[in-house]
Amino acid sequence: MPEFKTSPGTRDILAPHSARWRAFQQVFASTVEAAGYNYIIPPMFEDLDVFLRLGEATEVVTKEMYDFHDKGGRHVALRPEQTASVCRAFVEHRPTTPWKVWYAGPNFRYEKPQQGRYRQFDQVGVEALGADDPLLDAEVIALASKFYTDLGLQKVHLSLNTLGDAGDREKYSQRLLEYFSSNEKDLTADSRATLARNPLRVLDSKREPDQQVIAGAPAIRDSISATASEHFEAVLMALDALNITYEINNRLVRGLDYYRRTTFEFTSTALESAHTAIGGGGRYDGLVEALGGPATPGIGFALGLDRTLLACDAEKVFDAPETAVDVFVVDTVDGRHAHELCHLLRKNEIRADRAYDLRSMKAQMKSADRSGARIALIIGSEEVENATIMLRPMGSGEQYSISRKDLLGEVRKALDKK
Ligand code: HAM
Repeated sequence: MPEFKTSPGTRDILAPHSARWRAFQQVFASTVEAAGYNYIIPPMFEDLDVFLRLGEATEVVTKEMYDFHDKGGRHVALRPEQTASVCRAFVEHRPTTPWKVWYAGPNFRYEKPQQGRYRQFDQVGVEALGADDPLLDAEVIALASKFYTDLGLQKVHLSLNTLGDAGDREKYSQRLLEYFSSNEKDLTADSRATLARNPLRVLDSKREPDQQVIAGAPAIRDSISATASEHFEAVLMALDALNITYEINNRLVRGLDYYRRTTFEFTSTALESAHTAIGGGGRYDGLVEALGGPATPGIGFALGLDRTLLACDAEKVFDAPETAVDVFVVDTVDGRHAHELCHLLRKNEIRADRAYDLRSMKAQMKSADRSGARIALIIGSEEVENATIMLRPMGSGEQYSISRKDLLGEVRKALDKK
């Protein structure tokens, strides 16, 4: 038989880690729903064309897409992110604006798998469509920032930039092309290849020789329109008013091509791996139009769940929540008492589990230990005869007999006590 394993870049998330994932999404839901964002569940695959709107120079599109022809001959792709799907949904359903939504779920990118970088990875995020207000940019950033605080993270760094309006971005791209072309011999081969595709992305290179050239590159803030500049100043003032600390990084371009004006990224200074970006976002005025809708501004962010949890590990915060049962029922008679008692306990909102296959008392007690239950209820032939149950608070070394008819009251009393 072949040995089946998960495909590279994918993982099974097992307990207790899986409970942490669910709790992560719950914390996110309560943070953003408290700010008026409603839950949206877009499909996991769409027509490839939807994602092509992310921009033809975007690597996520050109190199990393999981696309295939389905049995009906449709060219579809697994979503590499969810902003494009949300914009497609906006065009399809035409909700009233501002339309504020949040999402959670997996995305797929054919990347080189490594620590913090996967081919299937989860994100949580928000998108707000239909408002151009710089105060909304600040609200979105503040929400992400509050969420990190809600998780307990402290070592989170916020970088901000503006990419100007559509025309500004093209103008800047042209200036960069000229600058990098005249310094091409000092760039690495990788960056020379990137330059041919998208000069902006050269700014992302972390390679030492490139860094020296990048240090002298023109800054976008010198190429942007007065309106984009005013918008950015208003965002900064709004963040200052909320005491949110940030650094302006005018080399921050981000990987997706749809960004206009405000862009931002959160990095964890507690992470030592190559992938410290735990979230990012920005404005994408123009994306709804590119998907066939009316001119509609939009802004949002997405946080990498996998990576943010690595940051939580590094800061030793946000432990997996407790999922253990309260009671473990040990039945050495025939298993039917455990069967019926568990049902009764569960019906009464008491978390209960049991052993199967009529194992020995010792084996059942071992399972009780492993289950994390706070009390064990033990039934042997003597208990059946007397209509009693032995109640053992786990780890106490004590046990006492209770009458079967007082079961629920006694269990509740024992659970309250601890
Ligand atoms: P992104 O920067 O491509 O933006 O992804 C956001 C976050 O997802 C990253 O900061 C990172 O934490 C996580 N991430 C991305 N790729 C991987 C991967 N291969 N493995 C693990 N984590 C990963 C977007 O996706 C935009 N849709 C964000 C946005 C929303 N902009 C506006 N609205």
